[in-house]
Amino acid sequence: MSKKPIIVFEGIEGSGKSHHISKVSKYLKERNINHIKIREPGGNVNSEKIRKLILNNKSDFSQNTDLLLYMAARSENIDLIKKSYKKKVILIDRFIDSTIAYQHYGMGIDVNLIKTLNKFLLKNIKVDFTFLNIVNNKNLYERLKKRKSLNRYDRFNMTFYNKVQNGFIKLSRSKKDNYELINSNLDIKNNEKLILSKIDKLI
Ligand code: TMP
Repeated sequence: MSKKPIIVFEGIEGSGKSHHISKVSKYLKERNINHIKIREPGGNVNSEKIRKLILNNKSDFSQNTDLLLYMAARSENIDLIKKSYKKKVILIDRFIDSTIAYQHYGMGIDVNLIKTLNKFLLKNIKVDFTFLNIVNNKNLYERLKKRKSLNRYDRFNMTFYNKVQNGFIKLSRSKKDNYELINSNLDIKNNEKLILSKIDKLI
């Protein structure tokens, strides 16, 4: 594995992935390890514009349009990723597996179409490792309730989030060596330690 890997943080809403990616970024910064941290949808200026459009509560796009917008946001990020690929550690808050989990397992869009689009955009770029953060329904519900504002994708029902999370778990089983499951229902500090000790091995 490259010592300048791409490390992705995946999981449904309230699973703690954004918390952990920030901790990892801080950890690398303290050690002067060159890295970039981006999120999807989002990342560069154009992708952030697309993010706003997708997640705006007033938007009313079809599922296919959403898929294409997520891909458009990714397309705008690829140059950013290419510039740092194998030169810096790249931390990404959601990436290609989110599209499979949400748009395929959650919404039923053809998985092969999603894979083809991802391949078209990524070419030879490969994710080295993924932390999959999982959360139970009770904590998901409570964590969403605490949010000051909810976006368009924070408003699905539990059945949808369960389908998405089960999809993520299936993906993790198919790529066992490159995935680590983080149970966010357990102690957060302990999870931070688990993640950082894995990061030490990865970089
Ligand atoms: P975030 O709030 O974690 O940044 O994610 C925004 C939402 O976008 C989240 O509900 C998951 C969704 N999403 C997809 O549905 N497909 C994708 O490909 C990506 C990257 C995100």
